[in-house]
Amino acid sequence: MSAAEGVLDLLAALAPVGRDARTGGYDRPGFGTAERECREWFLDEARRRDLQVERDGNGNLVAWWRTGPPAVGGVVTGSHLDSVPQGGAFDGPLGVTSALAAVDVLRERGATPRRPLGVAVFAEEEGSRFGLACLGSRLLSGALPPARLRDLRDRDGRTAADALAELDLPAPPGPADLLQTPSAFVELHVEQGRDLVDRGAAVAVATAIRPHGRWRLDLRGRADHAGTTALADRDDPMLHLADAVLAARQEAEAAAALATVGRVHVEPNATNAIPSLVRAWLDVRGADETSVRAVVTGVGAAAGVEPVEESWSPETRFPEQLRERLAATLGGVPRIPTGAGHDAGVLAAAGVPAAMIFVRNPSGVSHSPVEHAEPGDCVSGVLALADVLEELACR
Ligand code: HGY
Ligand code: MN
Ligand code: MN
Repeated sequence: MSAAEGVLDLLAALAPVGRDARTGGYDRPGFGTAERECREWFLDEARRRDLQVERDGNGNLVAWWRTGPPAVGGVVTGSHLDSVPQGGAFDGPLGVTSALAAVDVLRERGATPRRPLGVAVFAEEEGSRFGLACLGSRLLSGALPPARLRDLRDRDGRTAADALAELDLPAPPGPADLLQTPSAFVELHVEQGRDLVDRGAAVAVATAIRPHGRWRLDLRGRADHAGTTALADRDDPMLHLADAVLAARQEAEAAAALATVGRVHVEPNATNAIPSLVRAWLDVRGADETSVRAVVTGVGAAAGVEPVEESWSPETRFPEQLRERLAATLGGVPRIPTGAGHDAGVLAAAGVPAAMIFVRNPSGVSHSPVEHAEPGDCVSGVLALADVLEELACR
């Protein structure tokens, strides 16, 4: 087996961790048992390659291949190991396993980095546990003040500050130069769409991440008996939820945007009780901030509440010069935008020269057990990443 094909073994090693045998989906919430098992696996793989692992106070990791003294201006690649509930096997792990396999490919080629080469794992990228996307990279870059960690709670009411404190980290949460002011950061990621399928290409480089955010709707009502309360006497928040969901679709169509209500919390959540409270989370993405916010405003008006913003990611354009250097190194691959958020976007917004490589996903489906990348395309992705890392770190 070639070093590049080794990515398939690395993916296979992770495959059982946090997998729901019933559905094939993955449950790897940030800092949870399954994700921590994935991290331990990563540390073993790093040690196996004599990479020096460093951690920050935010739960992020980086494994360094150094051929000289630690220096700033390294080249870093990597992604995340957490998942959405019932997520796919590739969103995140493909970037981490491809990075390890790319190190193996460079060594197989006899290439030696002239600057430190790091493989990074970022914490809580999906924001599935604490609601804020890219938590680890936002803390690392200083985009998120550590004080906010006490406001972010999971479904059990535990704060992100508590979860981080449990990890016995080497430093308090906050801005860190864990990546040592990289001269470039490149994230490989499974495509979350069908652009590459339609183009008949295995890999592409990213041009931009479209603006997107998450809002919470707190819809209050009055708890009462389902079987004895006259309709005219009800204050049923479920009706406001119905208005919000229908408005999300209508407003998104009107704004050529995307809006989703994928998560709802109901109290008391009983078949025979009119709810006292319905919380709903709205995910909106679009071509520009104005259209995204127009959708949010419309949904709030329909639901009769002010949506509470929990996560916001402005449009991120990846630096053209680095993007074109990657595209040229790869022989002129497609340049495509994405509506999905990534740690590379957070780093780019913080001024790090960042780029992304996408790998074809035959169905385009993601955040689902159906998410997939063909073995041959995974190997093509590793070879592309190795070519890019050789160009950026070894020349
Ligand atoms: O939700 C997203 O855009 C990404 O998958 N975290
Ligand atoms: Mn991802
Ligand atoms: Mn994702």
